[in-house]
Amino acid sequence: MAKEPTIHELRLSKHTLNALESAGIYYIKDLLLYSPTRLAEITGLSKETCEKVLDKAIEFLDRYRKKFLTLEELEKVEEKKIFMSTGAHSLNRLLHGGWCVGEVTELAGPYASGKSQACFTALATVFLPMMSQKEIQEILYGGEETRSSERKDVHWGLNDGDISAVIIDSERTFSIQRFRKILGRFGLNEKEIMKKVIISRPENAWDQKRIIESLVGVVRENNVKLVVVDSLTKLPRADFSGQGELYTRQRLILDMVEKLRRIAINYRVVVIVTNQVVATPGVLYGRGYKPIGGHVLAHTVDTRLLLTRATDPYRKVTILDSSWLPPGECKIRITDEGIADA
Ligand SMILES: Nc1ncnc2c1ncn2[C@@H]1O[C@H](COP(=O)(O)OP(=O)(O)O)[C@@H](O)[C@H]1O
Ligand SMILES: [Mg+2]
Repeated sequence: MAKEPTIHELRLSKHTLNALESAGIYYIKDLLLYSPTRLAEITGLSKETCEKVLDKAIEFLDRYRKKFLTLEELEKVEEKKIFMSTGAHSLNRLLHGGWCVGEVTELAGPYASGKSQACFTALATVFLPMMSQKEIQEILYGGEETRSSERKDVHWGLNDGDISAVIIDSERTFSIQRFRKILGRFGLNEKEIMKKVIISRPENAWDQKRIIESLVGVVRENNVKLVVVDSLTKLPRADFSGQGELYTRQRLILDMVEKLRRIAINYRVVVIVTNQVVATPGVLYGRGYKPIGGHVLAHTVDTRLLLTRATDPYRKVTILDSSWLPPGECKIRITDEGIADA
């Protein structure tokens, strides 16, 4: 792979370079995470300077990319979808392979619907070796032979050497004890992985926003392949509760998810965010639940799933909305070793 171009290639003044680096921006692609206004805020540079910097970044990129492609050209350069197992093959099938690299998936659902369990399971499976799309398809859709009992609990991750995963545990429900059990199920080396999972616990909504803004540096330095935010919306909801603060709250949520989406795309990371739901007597989706964050989130995440409780220990997963997956649903089971087939 060609070396990632840094901001030093943009012929900026020493002062500008320093300001950008102090804000944690090293690569040209990091610059593209920000609007000129936001860049000015985090670097202390003037908005005019930031507009010029962004123009230079885009001009630089234009030397290497075609702005307009025919579909034929697009097909050649488009990156193939890469997946990691969710821990449940029923869910992997629903998602055409599992959690998708480069995308943000939202898990919405009421209390105890299994959102956190799904996240913790992903924090383990990501450390499994990668598998080819062909092997994955065989395990998920193959005949009797490939579905034999030995292969039933075969899973795949994104481990191509030295990788890490991040959890932003806003709800403070992550438990090392629980996680150990999940690692055991997949035969993962506990001692190794305790060094590779990075946790951050925001104090409030604003802190969470700042943590997400500084995430790009952590992702770059630690070869992070999975980012979990559990939950994305709880703190904003608690801190901005009145009707008058609705706009501020939605803006904050949108800001965070847009940043996460850029990280997903630029760094080829899986991003999973959880979201609470409010009960709606029979309206939206006819399912009686409406995810917090409403339309802002619906239009910024790539796939939105709804988890609902069935008779314990089962849960139902429904695709509420996706930019590419057809509607569908499946059943999973919550075990003390993470989520699994029903
Ligand atoms: N050790 C365990 N073994 C089996 N099920 C468990 C265990 N711990 C929690 N659960 C189940 O998981 C559910 C909570 O799931 P969780 O992912 O924390 O929900 P959410 O994050 O959606 O609120 C509980 O209903 C409980 O039944
Ligand atoms: Mg939870």
